Amino acid sequence: MTMVLQTRKLRMAFGGLTIFKGLDFDLRKGERHAVIGPNGAGKSTFVNLVTGLLRPTGGELLLDGADVTRASPQERVKAGLVRTFQINTLFPSLTPLESVVIALCQRDGVASPSLRAVHRCRTQIDEAGELLERFGLLAGCRTTTQELSYGEQRVLEVVLAFAMRPRVLLLDEPAAGLSTAQGVALFNQLSHLAGDTTVLFIEHDMHLVFRFADRVSVFAGGDMIAQGTPEHVRSNDDVRDAYLGN
Ligand SMILES: Nc1ncnc2c1ncn2[C@@H]1O[C@H](COP(=O)(O)OP(=O)(O)OP(=O)(O)O)[C@@H](O)[C@H]1O
Ligand SMILES: [Mg+2]
Repeated sequence: MTMVLQTRKLRMAFGGLTIFKGLDFDLRKGERHAVIGPNGAGKSTFVNLVTGLLRPTGGELLLDGADVTRASPQERVKAGLVRTFQINTLFPSLTPLESVVIALCQRDGVASPSLRAVHRCRTQIDEAGELLERFGLLAGCRTTTQELSYGEQRVLEVVLAFAMRPRVLLLDEPAAGLSTAQGVALFNQLSHLAGDTTVLFIEHDMHLVFRFADRVSVFAGGDMIAQGTPEHVRSNDDVRDAYLGN
């Protein structure tokens, strides 16, 4: 089995606050992997460590078997690691079409287009249109992003991440603030588009987790307290005590 991402005895502390005591984590190629756990368990911190936004206080992080513990975020993006944030990070005054075309131009190495030149990037405009259509955003793609609903803005973030053709896509609560139907639609798109892409997602909605994850990891109290199929995790007593609350 090919592992795209591994942590070995990963440790993280913010001052006196220990988040991870020595985490061993594996992400398998092509899987959809959910990370769950109570508020403050360190899920977002984990994503920040993986992307290189934070440096661990100990241990190692491997990407395709290579040690990237000290690699910059940019180097990790080049290696195919792309993420979305738990909070909205869009440009409000651009239209979704402009945002996606600019992202695609960056990906394709087309000299960063000025806004006025965006309309000349025909190939990227076509691809952007397809992506926006697949994710149900075509209707609003020519109004400014700030006029979209919150749910649509969250979907746009995922489209922008996906536009980078990631090998590993990291999604920090992509469905937060979405209606149930929007959340299901978003994850449906991801499961269709995933293919060879490995997806790691943080999600609080257990229906989405159990419906879309191949494997689930449960973080709590500085450790991974369980890992396995949704069925395995659901029937684990420690997980119920720590998190599921029933
Ligand atoms: N940069 C930081 N400096 C100091 N403490 C931090 C920092 N980032 C996170 N923390 C703390 O680390 C702990 C883990 O935070 P994190 O955001 O990773 O949790 P989470 O599992 O994503 O929670 P949530 O489900 O609420 O999103 C929290 O107690 C948080 O306050
Ligand atoms: Mg978080």
